[in-house]
Amino acid sequence: MSNLSKVSKDWWKESAVGIPKLITTEIPGPKSKIMHANTIRYMKGLSSQVKLFPVCFEEGHGITLTDVDGNKYLDFSSGIYVTSLGHCHPKISEAVAHWAKKLMNAHDFTTPVKEKLMEKMASVLPGKLNAIQLYSDGTSAVEAALRAARAISDKHEFISGYRDFHGKSMGAVSCAQMWRGETHSYGPTRAPGFYMVPRPDPYRPLWTKADGTIDTDAYINFYETFLKEGTVGNVAAFVLEPAQGWGGSIFPPEDFFPKLKIFCEKHNILLYDDEVLAGMGRTGEWLTLSHWGVTPDIVTFGKSFGNGFPVTAMVVREENGEALEKISASSSYGGNPMACAAALASIEVIEEEDILQNVRTVGEFFIKRMTKMKEQHPILGDVKGKGFLLGIELVKDKKTKEPFEEAGKLVYQKAFRKGLAWVPAGHILRMSPPLIMDEKYASMGMDIIEDAITEVEKEFGYK
Ligand SMILES: Cc1ncc(COP(=O)(O)O)c(C=O)c1O
Repeated sequence: MSNLSKVSKDWWKESAVGIPKLITTEIPGPKSKIMHANTIRYMKGLSSQVKLFPVCFEEGHGITLTDVDGNKYLDFSSGIYVTSLGHCHPKISEAVAHWAKKLMNAHDFTTPVKEKLMEKMASVLPGKLNAIQLYSDGTSAVEAALRAARAISDKHEFISGYRDFHGKSMGAVSCAQMWRGETHSYGPTRAPGFYMVPRPDPYRPLWTKADGTIDTDAYINFYETFLKEGTVGNVAAFVLEPAQGWGGSIFPPEDFFPKLKIFCEKHNILLYDDEVLAGMGRTGEWLTLSHWGVTPDIVTFGKSFGNGFPVTAMVVREENGEALEKISASSSYGGNPMACAAALASIEVIEEEDILQNVRTVGEFFIKRMTKMKEQHPILGDVKGKGFLLGIELVKDKKTKEPFEEAGKLVYQKAFRKGLAWVPAGHILRMSPPLIMDEKYASMGMDIIEDAITEVEKEFGYK
């Protein structure tokens, strides 16, 4: 891709000058209202963040989103953990446009850009993670990973963790927690041979040591028992997000994955690490699991992987590459030239702009700032995250830790109205800013969130 134009690291800064810039009296503005009403006459099943704030976007550039009324927002969402290198990064857009004009699809055949992407991926991924297949959405990559796990291990059961999310198809939903505390007779149910077990949440631990801290050994001991009593002894893989995105930006304690890896090796169980949300730099490493020195047997990437172009990947260790021959691995769109160009350009941008370092540095700023906020706000029960995968948990009372859903929704709406485009809220406010963001805009976003929290606290009579 070396023939692409050279882009300055600061390419996004000019369009960010003066944001947030709100010009209509009401937000969402009049054009948004009409356009949204026209759309929902036909389009159904929208997600909660849209229902709570039905704005219509027209343009995105770097860390700035512009709606159809001309209001400009600071982006703390990256689409939905997707446009991690900023909206319409010039290098990535140019790479996609090049192939959009030259060759859009050649199915499974090799193309020059696919050759380069394969080499690039093998060079950045740890260990021998270099047997690769490409897809066009995270769920398809997850499905393929489940098939691959069965082919590699010749076993058929799967264990995943409470509150994990892996997609919405039958296989993916079988290892995901879709309905929390709700009853749905029409939603997808789990397939046989799929089990869920508790995984450590430091703020809400199930098992603690005498000093009150979370007891990761107790979780592993439970898995030992569960293997004997709850399965038929045929477990192909442990399927886990390295840190839970939808579950609420929940990171396990440092020692959990190293212990789980030992457990998996002892029982000849594959460790499948679903990095669709957390991977490709969002936490300051290519793989979030690398923070804890663990290399998985299978990994999936999505979202940030193509910075907005739908391209995802499933990767297994070199010695297991043959298994991909047995699972009918390919798909119609996976690995098309535009997709390969987007993924390759995204990886190159991460390297050229030293994005991982930015994520680590600004990520530390985020944690410090959120920790300070926690001390000052009675409804702020917990702050969590690493790099740019962040969460703030709202509670009614810090002692009882009762989730404060109503406050979560209100804070989300108020901050949006103040010009912050961000991720939906239950009682855990989630943030996934573009990884190019510097401290100035990180601070601006946190100021908006803190103002919104303060207002909501007042409304609920806290201060
Ligand atoms: C960890 C994880 N796996 C898989 C998926 C499914 O990806 P997609 O929505 O692209 O199908 C998601 C989506 O949010 C995810 O967060």
